[in-house]
Amino acid sequence: MRDPAHGGSGEAGATWALIVAAGSGERLGIDRPKAFAALGGRPLLAESLDRLDRSEVVDAIVVAAPPGWEEPTILLAEELVASKVVACVTGGASRAESVALALAEVPDEALVVIVHDAARPLLEDAVLERLLVPLGEGFDGAVPVLPVADTLKRVDGVVVTETVDREGLVAAQTPQAFLASTFRRAVAGHLADATDCASLVERAGGRVAVVDGDARLLKVTTPGDLALAEALLAAS
Ligand code: CTP
Ligand code: MG
Repeated sequence: MRDPAHGGSGEAGATWALIVAAGSGERLGIDRPKAFAALGGRPLLAESLDRLDRSEVVDAIVVAAPPGWEEPTILLAEELVASKVVACVTGGASRAESVALALAEVPDEALVVIVHDAARPLLEDAVLERLLVPLGEGFDGAVPVLPVADTLKRVDGVVVTETVDREGLVAAQTPQAFLASTFRRAVAGHLADATDCASLVERAGGRVAVVDGDARLLKVTTPGDLALAEALLAAS
C-alpha cells in the first residue's frame, strides 16, 4: 500500500475530501444556509471548495449540500472550475448524517478521507499537509488542535459548579483526516450526537493524533464570526 503521508501524489482517487455544508446556519440567522452566506463577495462554501480543489493533497471531493441547494452548489463548483468535485449529495439532519451520506460516494479504493466543515473557510494547505504525517506513522486519524486559552468552567444555569483543569485539554478543528477503511467502520456505527468525526473513530477504538491547528480556521457560527473571517480574508 502506498504511504498515505504522500497524499495526492500521483495515484488518482487516493485521498478524498468531504465538505459538509448542509447545515441551516440557525445561529448565523440569515435568509439562506450558512454555506451561501457572503464572504469576500462569494458564497462561504467557495472558499474551502476552492482551497481543497487546488490542494495537491486532495484527489477528489464530495460536497454535502443543504437540502434544496444542490443546484446552486453544483453551479458554484462549475464556476470555480473545481474539477475534483465528483459528487454533490443532499445533506442529512445532523452533521454526522451528512458525513455518512457524503462518505457513501467514496469508492473502496480510497486510502484517506479528509472531512472539512464548510463553516471553516480559511483553510491553509499547510494544515492538510500536517494532517497526513500521522497517517503515515500508524495512526488511524489526525485532527488539528489549538491550545485552550481561557479558564474553563462547568456551569449549571448561571451557577459555576466546577473549574475544569485545563491540563491536557485542546480545542479540535477541521479538516480531520482518517484512513478510509477505519473511518468507514467508525461511521457505520452509532452516529448520534457526534460533533466531530474523530470522536467516532475514537469510539471505535481508533488512534487519533493531534497536529497544530490554525487560528484562522475559526468556525463561522455567529454574525461576529463572519465579520472576523471577512477581515482575516481581506488581510490575507
Ligand atoms: N452540517 C451539515 N449537515 C447538518 C448540520 C451541519 O453538513 N445537518 C455542517 C455545516 O454545514 C457546517 C458544519 O457541519 O459546515 C458544522 O456545523 P455548524 O457550524 O453547527 O453549522 P450549522 O448546523 O449550519 O449551524 P447552526 O448549528 O447554527 O444551525
Ligand atoms: Mg449545527
